[in-house]
Amino acid sequence: MNSFTILSTLILFLLHRNVLGASSHRPETASVNVDVSGHHPGAHCFPALGFQPPPFTPPDSWLDNWWCDAADEHAFMGFSYEVTACQSQEQLIHEFLDIRFHFNSRYVRLYGACDREGFYDDIVEAAWISGLGVHALIWFGFNLDDVWIGRRDTLLAALHANPRAKFITRVLQFGSEPLFDGVLPVDELTAQVEMAKANLSSLGIPVTVSELAFGYQERGGAQELLDALDSINIHMLPFFSQEASIANNSWPLVLNDLDWFIDHGNGKKMYFDENGWPSVTSPGVQPNSPDAVADIQNEHDYYVLLDNHCEDLKAVVGGGIGWFAHIYSDNQEPGYGIYNSSGHLKFSFHPRTSC
Ligand SMILES: *[C@@H]1O[C@H](CO)[C@@H](O)[C@H](O)[C@H]1NC(C)=O
Ligand SMILES: *[C@@H]1O[C@H](CO)[C@@H](O)[C@H](O)[C@H]1NC(C)=O
Ligand SMILES: *[C@@H]1O[C@H](CO)[C@@H](O)[C@H](O)[C@H]1NC(C)=O
Repeated sequence: MNSFTILSTLILFLLHRNVLGASSHRPETASVNVDVSGHHPGAHCFPALGFQPPPFTPPDSWLDNWWCDAADEHAFMGFSYEVTACQSQEQLIHEFLDIRFHFNSRYVRLYGACDREGFYDDIVEAAWISGLGVHALIWFGFNLDDVWIGRRDTLLAALHANPRAKFITRVLQFGSEPLFDGVLPVDELTAQVEMAKANLSSLGIPVTVSELAFGYQERGGAQELLDALDSINIHMLPFFSQEASIANNSWPLVLNDLDWFIDHGNGKKMYFDENGWPSVTSPGVQPNSPDAVADIQNEHDYYVLLDNHCEDLKAVVGGGIGWFAHIYSDNQEPGYGIYNSSGHLKFSFHPRTSC
């Protein structure tokens, strides 16, 4: 550990004590992982709010009782976080701590790619220190090339090599939108998912694809792919609907896509893993409806809408929808950030983490 890491850990420990009060403790062994205070019913599993990973690498046997049951997880999960900037380990730690403790996140969903050697080890370290689970990503990019194959092999190898990776990696995604972008035919993408599942089975890491409803629909439903997925990681971006107007009117648009996944998903756990409404348009963010409004008010209203429908989303098959906010900062994708590009919050953001 360098001094920054030690300091962060100390700050985190103090935060943790404040959050939980005097009756709580850090789990030191598997047997004290059960919170008996009654105040934090989820705090005995990773990455429940209030649960902090131990300061050592647990034995593999801990994996059996490590993860919170996905069927118990719903509401706000955390942020999409783009890594194309190849953030330093210090920046990752700083921002993951912010994601965890400022916003009560349980997960971070990676977006984009950093090809720096050892980058996923830095993600693991930052996630471990902050107590966040990770939705890792094999990034295809937008160039229809085969760079993703090397990224796949590097990430799979890192998941095996880093002894903590399996304790923080909740799912491996292929993305983003490989069907919509046409990077691979359905049968080849399905074969990739099956291959990755086999590769990661000894680590207990599930595999998914990060995709729009339309990506499946335009390929005849791609049922064989849906059937191969361990969870369904949905892109919910109603701003792009041909029916879009203001975010306050977008619930029927959300339901339209969600109902399609409910009908074809065979009861699997579902996430809105790329999910939001932009505050500005840009060359890559253009509406398909003349009435679609992009501004900070509507970006905020969309998350309030999801929060107001917390009970409806919780009632969805598979234990309810867990949703991510796309994205942490405008520096990562213009207009979608919760922070603007000078690091100021664009609106107050404290969505419910359960209901
Ligand atoms: C998983 O894939 C990686 C990268 O291709 C490879 O190095 C490793 O041997 C594979 N492990 C298993 C168990 O298949
Ligand atoms: C959306 O609804 C909220 C709550 O009723 C309201 O405060 C907000 O002004 C509405 N947004 C727009 C753009 O009308
Ligand atoms: C970010 O928000 C702050 C505070 O509202 C504002 O002063 C600043 O101009 C904003 N920056 C950008 C780039 O919009």
